[in-house]
Amino acid sequence: MLVSAEQIAARVPVLAHEIAAALGPSPRDPVLLAVMTGALIFAADLIRHLPVPLRIALATVTSYPGTATSSQGARLKGELPPDLAGRDVLLVDDILDSGRTLGLLQREILARAPASLRTVVLLRKHAARSLPIVCEHVGFDIPDEFVVGYGLDYDGYYRNLPAVHAMVPATS
Ligand code: IMP
Ligand code: MG
Repeated sequence: MLVSAEQIAARVPVLAHEIAAALGPSPRDPVLLAVMTGALIFAADLIRHLPVPLRIALATVTSYPGTATSSQGARLKGELPPDLAGRDVLLVDDILDSGRTLGLLQREILARAPASLRTVVLLRKHAARSLPIVCEHVGFDIPDEFVVGYGLDYDGYYRNLPAVHAMVPATS
């Protein structure tokens, strides 16, 4: 186990508080854009600590198809919400790894002229290969290991684990 359910439960309200403070007293029609599917659990916990009137939107990016454990390049599936212009956008993802996913989404969002863009991730891997991605709010820095749980999957499984675990190859 790398991050316990208790550590997450303690950190999420702190992140939400930071975000609310950064948005200020009069946010501009804020929209929380959660990256499916991994950010589902984190976003659900985070929004309940955000005392901000906001809307929720979803973006789907595929980068780890099936059993791959290293990024295969990010691709946007479907469209972003059409109405991001002039709004405060909060981009929420589970983990920053190579940065391809958030790099792609940040470019696409900024091209739509939002009032502001902030990015929050639960986890950030320390990897030399990472792109320099601006990420204002980070839950936990973790070692460069493949992790599952709290929304993160391996081939679609383990998202329902309450804590974050490193995948350890089976010994036989
Ligand atoms: P990036 O594009 O390489 O930064 O990867 C980000 C996306 O890949 C995240 O949104 C995750 O869904 C997925 N991902 C990255 N690292 C892991 C991991 O260790 N376990 C599970 N999914 C991961
Ligand atoms: Mg993801």
